[in-house]
Amino acid sequence: MTEKAQNKNLNQAKINKKDEFYTQLSDIERELKYYKKHFKDKVVYCNCDDPRVSNFFHYFSYNFEKLGLKKLVATCYKNQNMDLFSQNDAEQAIYLEYTGDKNGNNIPDPNEIGMKKLKGDGDFRSKECIELLKQADIVVTNPPFSLFREYVAQLIENDKNLL
Ligand SMILES: C[S@@+](CC[C@H](N)C(=O)[O-])C[C@H]1O[C@@H](n2cnc3c(N)ncnc32)[C@H](O)[C@@H]1O
Repeated sequence: MTEKAQNKNLNQAKINKKDEFYTQLSDIERELKYYKKHFKDKVVYCNCDDPRVSNFFHYFSYNFEKLGLKKLVATCYKNQNMDLFSQNDAEQAIYLEYTGDKNGNNIPDPNEIGMKKLKGDGDFRSKECIELLKQADIVVTNPPFSLFREYVAQLIENDKNLL
């Protein structure tokens, strides 16, 4: 491999790694404490978040009642396993919806969380994810670094607030 090709590979690896960087719960708590009042009766959509590993999903599901949320929706991109540095190699993604605690234990139990399979791979640009975006009031996530411009442009186009 030439030096140029090697550099290109290393740069791509750096971008991929940033794309898969998962946000810490402590950082989410530290930041979101300033925005609590904005979530009342709102539909929150985490559109780059595998709910099985996303701390955004964790934060909003565990604080659902405290924040007075209306609905929490999360879609994941391809991943089907718990590996933080997954290669996104499983094509079918999932969609998850939570409308709050039903049995009074203030914990989002698995049977209270509606999990469905998406038709496609969960790309935030896909038609089905855009449909979910349209139903949301606020989008909260840490999107893939390499697609940041496209991500923000889509939110502006759909007139959505991003945190
Ligand atoms: C920087 S990570 C952050 C993950 C999560 N939002 C968090 O904060 O912990 C970006 C995530 O976006 C996902 N992703 C990459 N391309 C995507 C796409 N086109 N549509 C939706 N999600 C994508 C990646 O799989 C990765 O999980």
